[in-house]
Amino acid sequence: MGTVFLNGEFMPMSEAKISPMDRGFLFGDGIYEVIPSYAAKLVGFKPHMKRLQVGLQAIGMGMPMAISDIQTVIDRLVVDNGAGNLGIYLHVSRGTDSKRFHAYPTGVSQTVFAFTFEIPPEPVADKQHVKGYKVVSSADLRWKRCHIKSTSLLGNVMHFQQSQTAGVNETLLYNDAGYLTEASACNVFIVQQNTIITPPLSEQLLPGITRGMLLDILKVDGHLHFEERAIHMDEVRNADEIWLTSSSKEIAPVIELDGKPVGNGQVGEMWLKAQSLFSAHKYNY
Ligand code: PDD
Repeated sequence: MGTVFLNGEFMPMSEAKISPMDRGFLFGDGIYEVIPSYAAKLVGFKPHMKRLQVGLQAIGMGMPMAISDIQTVIDRLVVDNGAGNLGIYLHVSRGTDSKRFHAYPTGVSQTVFAFTFEIPPEPVADKQHVKGYKVVSSADLRWKRCHIKSTSLLGNVMHFQQSQTAGVNETLLYNDAGYLTEASACNVFIVQQNTIITPPLSEQLLPGITRGMLLDILKVDGHLHFEERAIHMDEVRNADEIWLTSSSKEIAPVIELDGKPVGNGQVGEMWLKAQSLFSAHKYNY
């Protein structure tokens, strides 16, 4: 079992213990990040730290450690866990109180926990070898603060379970007006006549680091046309391509939605271009 970090110390996972009075356990009162690392090179460390800071601030907390100290912890965890294809999970909860009382307590120190887990090898822009994802769709039944990367993930867990029950990989979510928000653990892009489109940031979706990096890479490159705008599910159903983005998947092509092929049912040409660009530039963030 791997080495983990808990409240200032490195230890085997089997020795990591927290109190059941931890507010992360009782209330899901915390913020987390998942950062990918391939051969000890992190993808998007800076934007992940920025989002952590903003998320903690949104729930009335500050950063538990200096970013440089978080970097040191992550570097050690990566090395101690073999420096292969790793996701680094970093979790900050409001800490352990003596009583169960909803209000934010004072004088309680945050719980900081980090561990690594194996992720698939670095995605490559290759139509022959990429996995084509299958998805279902559902009304988005989560809360109204989906922009906060909260450890209270029950809504997401239930939506992800819908996809597992249906025998597919993910669930695309849409709001009360029928517009795409995101997926249970990914952001979503569509391609319509060579234009790449993704919903604009709002409280209805997570500001995904992969999403943000991809948009920035597309902007700097300047060859592919893209838009951030509301996307009705009718457009999603008629899209030429659909992609899921997340830290461990990068850009994943979707080939089936609700049992129907997406476009021609094959991985698309625009996916190939976008994943190539992403692969070429992702270590700059
Ligand atoms: N999921 N939307 C949701 C609801 C997510 O949970 C995630 C990430 C994303 C993509 O964000 P990013 O590009 O920053 O990974 C979008 C992570 C990986 C998880 O919960 O395991």
